[in-house]
Amino acid sequence: MIKAVNLTKKFGDFTAVDNLNLDVSPGQIFGFLGPNGAGKTTTIKMLTGVLKPTSGKVYILDLDMESKEIEIKKRIGVVNEEPKIYSHLKGYEYLKFIMDIFQMNNSEIKRRIHELCEAFGVDYLDKFISDMSHGMKQKLVLISVLMRKPEVIFLDEPTVGLDAKSAKILKELLKKYAEQGITIFLTTHILEIAEKMCEKIAIINKGKKIAEGTMGELKKMGKYENMNLEELFLELTASEEDIKSIVEQL
Ligand SMILES: Nc1ncnc2c1ncn2[C@@H]1O[C@H](COP(=O)(O)OP(=O)(O)OP(=O)(O)O)[C@@H](O)[C@H]1O
Ligand SMILES: [Mg+2]
Repeated sequence: MIKAVNLTKKFGDFTAVDNLNLDVSPGQIFGFLGPNGAGKTTTIKMLTGVLKPTSGKVYILDLDMESKEIEIKKRIGVVNEEPKIYSHLKGYEYLKFIMDIFQMNNSEIKRRIHELCEAFGVDYLDKFISDMSHGMKQKLVLISVLMRKPEVIFLDEPTVGLDAKSAKILKELLKKYAEQGITIFLTTHILEIAEKMCEKIAIINKGKKIAEGTMGELKKMGKYENMNLEELFLELTASEEDIKSIVEQL
């Protein structure tokens, strides 16, 4: 469903994503983790056709991003890191706009919008987007993606800004979608989410993939068996001595 082959992105001399290979199967929830600046958002942008790779290939739904970009974009959904959406539109105008673009103006989608609004407590579709809080905008973007039930969904830190109830509903909903065969690719800094939700996890640091596997496989990489994901993540991306000495010096 999602395949990256030797994917590389350079900004000038700086390599943000370095020879990355990924392979995500249908119905999988795939967690993509890494410290700030590791290259997660840059990778998602390349996987979703927003940013052109410097080298390497992207295949989504078995289609080549270079030649089938529009078809891929019709069939995927993307929730970006920042909900940057047209501030001069009202909530319902934005949803209508997305429905029109994807030519999906039918009763099925209207029913789904209604259900999703109820689920996420969205009762503010008549407000201008400019007057919405970060979390309110985030929920609107989520609804605009989930209402389409795309075959592959990319989410870049989707729970940031969401209240506890909305975050829980989103997590349960994504699990339900995955059971129905929808493929989910998500980044998160909340390691508990990755540990509980993701069948497979990849960890990236300074543009390079440094670990990949199921939680069980990753645990075998750690120093001791009962390591949780946070301990393993820190072991792979920063040493304990480092953190101690940093805090001592502050
Ligand atoms: N347009 C750009 N021009 C130059 N450098 C960029 C650009 N976009 C990203 N970078 C750099 O690429 C690196 C990876 O950034 P990216 O946004 O992919 O990180 P991230 O893993 O998503 O981090 P975070 O967890 O903070 O969201 C960073 O060093 C960043 O400064
Ligand atoms: Mg990011």
